[in-house]
Amino acid sequence: MCGIVGYTGKRQAQAVLYDCLCRLEYRGYDSCGIAVNTPEVQVFKDAGKVRNILQNAPRFEGTAGLGHTRWATCGEPTRINAHPHIDCTGKISLVHNGVINNYAQLRKRLEAGGHKVVSDTDTELIAHLIEEYDKGNLEEAVRQAVKEIDGSYALVVMRSGDNTLVAVRKDSPLVIGVGDGEYLVASDVPAILGYTNRVIYPEEGDIAVISPDSLKINRNGEYIIPRVEKINWTPDEAQKGGYSHYMLKEIHEQPQVIQNTLINMPLTESFYKSPLLEQGRKTGILFLACGSSYHAALTGRYLVEEHLNIPVRLEVASEFNYMQHLPPCKLAVVLSQSGETADILRAMRRLKQAGCMIVAITNVAGSTAARLADHVIYTQAGPEIGVAATKSFIAQLVVLYALCFACASAASPRYQDYLSTMRLLPGAVQKILGSHQNIKDAAIEVAKSKSAFFIGRGINYPIALEGALKLKEISYIHAEGYAAGELKHGPFALLSPETPVLALVSRDQTYEAMLTGLREIKVRRAPLIVIGEDGDDQLEQLADRVIKIPPFNRLFSPILFSVVLQLLAFYAAYELGCDIDTPRNLAKSVTVE
Ligand code: F6R
Repeated sequence: MCGIVGYTGKRQAQAVLYDCLCRLEYRGYDSCGIAVNTPEVQVFKDAGKVRNILQNAPRFEGTAGLGHTRWATCGEPTRINAHPHIDCTGKISLVHNGVINNYAQLRKRLEAGGHKVVSDTDTELIAHLIEEYDKGNLEEAVRQAVKEIDGSYALVVMRSGDNTLVAVRKDSPLVIGVGDGEYLVASDVPAILGYTNRVIYPEEGDIAVISPDSLKINRNGEYIIPRVEKINWTPDEAQKGGYSHYMLKEIHEQPQVIQNTLINMPLTESFYKSPLLEQGRKTGILFLACGSSYHAALTGRYLVEEHLNIPVRLEVASEFNYMQHLPPCKLAVVLSQSGETADILRAMRRLKQAGCMIVAITNVAGSTAARLADHVIYTQAGPEIGVAATKSFIAQLVVLYALCFACASAASPRYQDYLSTMRLLPGAVQKILGSHQNIKDAAIEVAKSKSAFFIGRGINYPIALEGALKLKEISYIHAEGYAAGELKHGPFALLSPETPVLALVSRDQTYEAMLTGLREIKVRRAPLIVIGEDGDDQLEQLADRVIKIPPFNRLFSPILFSVVLQLLAFYAAYELGCDIDTPRNLAKSVTVE
């Protein structure tokens, strides 16, 4: 939520900031702005998206500056509330990602002290706080100011006439890009990939003082030599690569993502025979995630319980954080594409305090979740820019399947065969991607509806939830995912010829029950779109439309069904002319509670 950038170096800052903000827009797009040191601080900002607003900015000459793209938390998305914010003197400017909890008290105190606060934001107060402490040493002023803040922040601060940036973080992500005679600061790596792939991840509370030719990081009062890490993502991976939308590109990248994720899995005996699994067997495993990652985790629960016979407790992280009593599990698996979801991080800290071992499955190297966890498994999805999770979700499923089957192979050799079968998944996904006219036609039909149901049973229940989430978030059609057997316990009242039901039918142990359910739906005259296996003739007789997936081992139907539902949501949203990559009111990583 909110993307921040800072630049200091030899290039014109305005162009760099614009470029970085365009790449960071998935973090929020309610308003945006830049500040350039000319050497006076010149600010241009407004409500709206980066390309619409900042292309019309006046040209500011200067080689240091700040940029921001906002997902509004405190204060409506208006020009006055857009970042960067400045202090009373107009000399100190800053951008912020996070939330200040003691906002009201701070505002009262600062206004009583004579500060003129012009916006409704919490961020502006930090500029005034720094102004109060500024006796000529910006680093010290920032240090003193943040002591007064209760909340989360990644901040980049600049003073007019000085190309030095001061950056600090607590519970919000921040990365420093190391260039040749230049430095960049940003919320996420994709923003700066066009300039450098060498990065430093500041720790909580670090204060970085960054000028074009020097970087000092103060940790707990000492200047440290920071570790520079090399990112293996390329700038091209964060581009649309000829596709109309990031989401479409990311859906089409999935065969490669599956392959890369499998190749990089730590499927060695030392991992899955490690004491971790023993711990899980003794106390059960706790799975935690949010949104799409939660749906992947729910799929993981079916896998682990069925194939490893280990009880899994699954919680939405935001709910877990308010539970009075921690479950007895001493092994937790957290799933988070970004590794920066605030609810996940809070849950991880709580678990750590309780002595729980944590395995994080995340897509972003250096993310806070990766650093908090005891063990990290990376999904190899590459940068995901579309706000709706697609390839990262598939990669999470692949990790869960591979881990589970690798662990189960100790007990039964058939799991080695399943692992081998997984290597054929990219081909099956490619087949779906290669012939999707039927999915597109179904999507055009669905786009005429105001409401839709997605149903599945067993391991395809989470996929029904995910299909509904994908459709609603990018097309704004109201969609509900249901366990197929639950539809008759109430939602049947909503069935009508205007309410399509999309059913996931796998020829596994749930098959007969699914068919019975479909008949009950059909007699209530709801249009029935069934996603099922090629060669299943029964489906043709029952459904108004059948979308077929290629024949493949049924254990993996969740992966193939997911791809179909992603395409369906995409084409429905496309038909409706929606802003697919940046849906309204959303942001890619939810770094506030
Ligand atoms: C939906 C979506 C979100 C995320 C959720 C968790 O398409 O992307 O529901 O899955 O915000 O994000 P991560 O996985 O980054 O923790």
